[in-house]
Amino acid sequence: MLGFVPHPDLPESVNMPFRNRYTGLIDKYRDRLPVHDDTRIISLGESNTPLIRLNNIPALLGKNVDIYVKYEGLNPTGSFKDRGMTMAVTKAVEEGSKAIICASTGNTSAAAAAYAARAGITAFVLIPEGKIAMGKLAQAMIHGAVVIQIRGNFDAGMQIVKDVAEYTPVTIVNSINPFRLQGQKTAAFEIIEELGTAPDYHCLPVGNAGNITAHWMGYSEYHEHGIVNNRPHMVGYQASGSAPFLRGHMVDNPETVATAIRIGHPQSWDKAWAVQKESEGWFDECSDEEILAAQKLLTEKEGVFCEPASATSLAGAMRDIKSGKIAEGSKIVCTLTGNGLKDPETAIKQCDANPMVTVDASVEAVKSAILDNME
Ligand code: F0G
Repeated sequence: MLGFVPHPDLPESVNMPFRNRYTGLIDKYRDRLPVHDDTRIISLGESNTPLIRLNNIPALLGKNVDIYVKYEGLNPTGSFKDRGMTMAVTKAVEEGSKAIICASTGNTSAAAAAYAARAGITAFVLIPEGKIAMGKLAQAMIHGAVVIQIRGNFDAGMQIVKDVAEYTPVTIVNSINPFRLQGQKTAAFEIIEELGTAPDYHCLPVGNAGNITAHWMGYSEYHEHGIVNNRPHMVGYQASGSAPFLRGHMVDNPETVATAIRIGHPQSWDKAWAVQKESEGWFDECSDEEILAAQKLLTEKEGVFCEPASATSLAGAMRDIKSGKIAEGSKIVCTLTGNGLKDPETAIKQCDANPMVTVDASVEAVKSAILDNME
């Protein structure tokens, strides 16, 4: 190995030669992605995220089910968007693009900003004024994207992006860019590789419905190639105030505390309905209260911190497990799309019942704070 010297006192698992370094999903899944041997890959080492088996929540539900959460919040910019963005930006650069553009509820803008920085190109991001979580805004700004706030929601921004891209030399990196879905399908590959099978149910939060579409592509690809002989029922949960798939039509003024999925005009409308039918899955909605309760339960009972939108998958799954719609004995994967740190304000607001303890800087004061708070 080039310059690699194993350390005699370290175990073999640590003494890995450099060639085993993880270099991101395009390198890993090159054969299944539309890249060439000489394509310059723009990567931040995304994907390869943990699939965490929930230890306590199934017991709390009183049901014999296996629930796994795919913790996409551990991607480099803290959301699943990195999977799609490594592909979209790699292809944009390959095609000679000098600038990318997206409308975003926050996470896409963070990923676009980071991957554009990595590539040395410009990112323009349109965000709804006042409606994106603080962590995401910080990311877009610090990576040097041109952040354009609009006095309107995501859906208005998306329409403007589509129009503007017709007249300006910019590549759209929203999930209407087909390379985004190609990157995102790899999450399904990872789940199959880890479980040795597809789950019985795969639950996701749905906004534009790109991710549920991409997952189905991934499951179907491994199925077609005989790597597995099953595919999951795909279940998409939306926030009640932003639930066009439940209403059966576009929603004009979407609202929800889960700002990431505050979307009324999903871009992958037809594709997602096809996924629902083919997979014999369903859509359902969760109230903001249910979403926040699931976020808190997951942090308190399992130690996993996701952002509110992400908790929609678990909120819906828990309801369907309790009711028996998802049967006992099932293997369920819930995608946790984004990291809890993205939205510290909503997290702190959730802790009113468990405020900080402020005391004098003395052993005595801290000691009594400990004794007062022992369970
Ligand atoms: N969860 C999170 C945390 C998201 O940021 C998004 C989408 C979704 C779920 C829904 O995924 O749109 O593929 O159905 N966020 C986009 C953005 C819209 O701009 O960051 P989807």
